[in-house]
Amino acid sequence: MKIGICSDHAGLDYKTRIISYLLSKGYDVCNFGTDSPESCDYPDFAHALAAAVESGEVDCGIALCGTGNGMAMTLNKHKGVRAGLAWGTAIAGLCKRHNNANVLVMPARFISYQMCTRCIRAWLTTPFEGGRHQRRVEKI
Ligand code: RB5
Repeated sequence: MKIGICSDHAGLDYKTRIISYLLSKGYDVCNFGTDSPESCDYPDFAHALAAAVESGEVDCGIALCGTGNGMAMTLNKHKGVRAGLAWGTAIAGLCKRHNNANVLVMPARFISYQMCTRCIRAWLTTPFEGGRHQRRVEKI
């Protein structure tokens, strides 16, 4: 599985560590930046990740900014993207189980790195339930 990842400056430290974590677990990772601690604009990186998800260049994505909201708002402008914001394992699993989120967004300034990896594990290992949730996802 190939996972795309992006952040702004607020999420850069976690993104760097998450890339190592994912590689150590055997995932392919495609990094869409930022790679600088300088202040930057999250849409520049969110749009790049979203385009890769939409085109199938990556199977799914992970995005981080300070609150997660800027990334989620930008990603969800893309028709082929369902970005879910998560700060705990239950909501991370549910954004896949109920919403079939193909991008997981996390608020780097509000959760620990350990919680990020736990959210990622929950999101990656939880299946989409389908059924009534499929109907609802189609209505998005
Ligand atoms: C950057 O200061 C911050 O605004 C950004 O990381 C994010 O929280 C925006 O939604």
